[in-house]
Amino acid sequence: MKRITFIGTGYVGLVSGAGISDFGHHVICTDIDKPKIEALQKGQLPIYEPGLKALVARNVKAGRLSFSADVEASIRKAEVVFIAVGTPQGDGGAADISAVKAVAKTIGENLDGYKVVCTKSTVPIGTGRLVCDIIEKYKPEGVDFDYVSNPEFLREGAAVMDFTRPDRIVIGADSERAFEVMRDVYRPLYINETPMLHTGISTAEMIKYACNAFLALKISYINEIANLCESVGADVHMVAKAMGIDGRISPKFLHPGPGFGGSCFPKDTRALVKMGDREGIPIRTVKAAIETNNEQKHRMVLKLKTLLDGELKGKQIAILGLSFKPLTDDVRESPANEMIAVLTKEGARVRAYDPAANATMSKIFPQVEYYDSWEEAASGTDAAVIMTEWNEFRSMDLQTLKERMKTPVILDTRNVLSMEELREAGFRFDNVGRKKGTYN
Ligand SMILES: NC(=O)c1ccc[n+]([C@@H]2O[C@H](COP(=O)([O-])OP(=O)(O)OC[C@H]3O[C@@H](n4cnc5c(N)ncnc54)[C@H](O)[C@@H]3O)[C@@H](O)[C@H]2O)c1
Repeated sequence: MKRITFIGTGYVGLVSGAGISDFGHHVICTDIDKPKIEALQKGQLPIYEPGLKALVARNVKAGRLSFSADVEASIRKAEVVFIAVGTPQGDGGAADISAVKAVAKTIGENLDGYKVVCTKSTVPIGTGRLVCDIIEKYKPEGVDFDYVSNPEFLREGAAVMDFTRPDRIVIGADSERAFEVMRDVYRPLYINETPMLHTGISTAEMIKYACNAFLALKISYINEIANLCESVGADVHMVAKAMGIDGRISPKFLHPGPGFGGSCFPKDTRALVKMGDREGIPIRTVKAAIETNNEQKHRMVLKLKTLLDGELKGKQIAILGLSFKPLTDDVRESPANEMIAVLTKEGARVRAYDPAANATMSKIFPQVEYYDSWEEAASGTDAAVIMTEWNEFRSMDLQTLKERMKTPVILDTRNVLSMEELREAGFRFDNVGRKKGTYN
């Protein structure tokens, strides 16, 4: 059993902290956001993530997981300190690592004995060296530490499962002692033969960016193929299926849609491009993927405009789905953001519904009207737009939807509805990468 502290109790810190406590370790999750910690101490979760509530409750009850706003004391109590603070996009596309640097200083100032300091946040290559230098500068003389880079690969919406059953664990460590400590932290997974890759620190940092950018590339690629399918009258779903059967390609991340969003792909692709430019090694493929993605989001707005004969002003539009993917309340850079921004700018009235993300989106767009069901959001609207592939939209009763709407017009950016059923119900519709809807 190890004593472990997580600094940063967001999507990654909370899920990883709770997950590691479930492995049998004693974990404190700490954060500078006091209201967040107070809510967690009362048993309230700050995020929506399937399975997380039960995981947290079980480990709090067992006395293995606790929450504290006292970052300094929490560091002093730990043998292993994880850094899981945010690294949002900074100036010019590079990652903003100011929170990581601030935390490194606090760790140095509170280093009261040997500890392993481990970064889980996604950080630009070379950040590990920087964190070590900061800790060295502020730590008391004679006290030792080792540094590890342990990037996190969990997906929001499936975070608990991804953390407890990962495809692999990457441990970038120059010290054998630190690697052994990390193997102990992940002992249950190590025993289960989860591949554990021991790499250098820069390699571990690079692996995270290489993975995220590759997945983003796949999405932009299939979106461009989808757009071409529309033009030549092919069906992107059959194309993607046939591609995915090929073992060299894999079917994952070949779903056409309104473009990638979320808290990782957009900022990580930009940060990778920035790193490449800085090193004089332009990452052209990723640059192109970003450009395609921006255009794809815009293309969805144009599709809606076309469905409405070019006029958005004065129209009432239902936006169904706000989060960047189902099963999360995270709306950071979700494609719904661009859609809502353009609609409101062009004078349309937006009525929105998301099963989990109404509250998070209302902080960005307070002027939008939020409803508790798609039926309410769609009432009296000129068009509905499905922006997130929540399961409940797949099984929407089209007759009910049609009766609720002023005019039966739908843009299905996730291709969750059957074109045949839409045609039968008399909808004017469009989607991504399939034959255009028949106009009634
Ligand atoms: N969200 C994901 O799906 C995901 C997956 C893999 C990796 N990552 C990476 O993990 C990191 C964290 O992402 P997230 O989504 O959990 O972010 P988040 O914004 O949900 O959480 C970050 C937390 O850090 C806290 N924080 C900021 N500065 C602090 C400080 N100085 N001291 C203590 N706490 C501080 C914030 O209050 C916040 O609660 C990022 O680098 C991200 O790229 C995220």
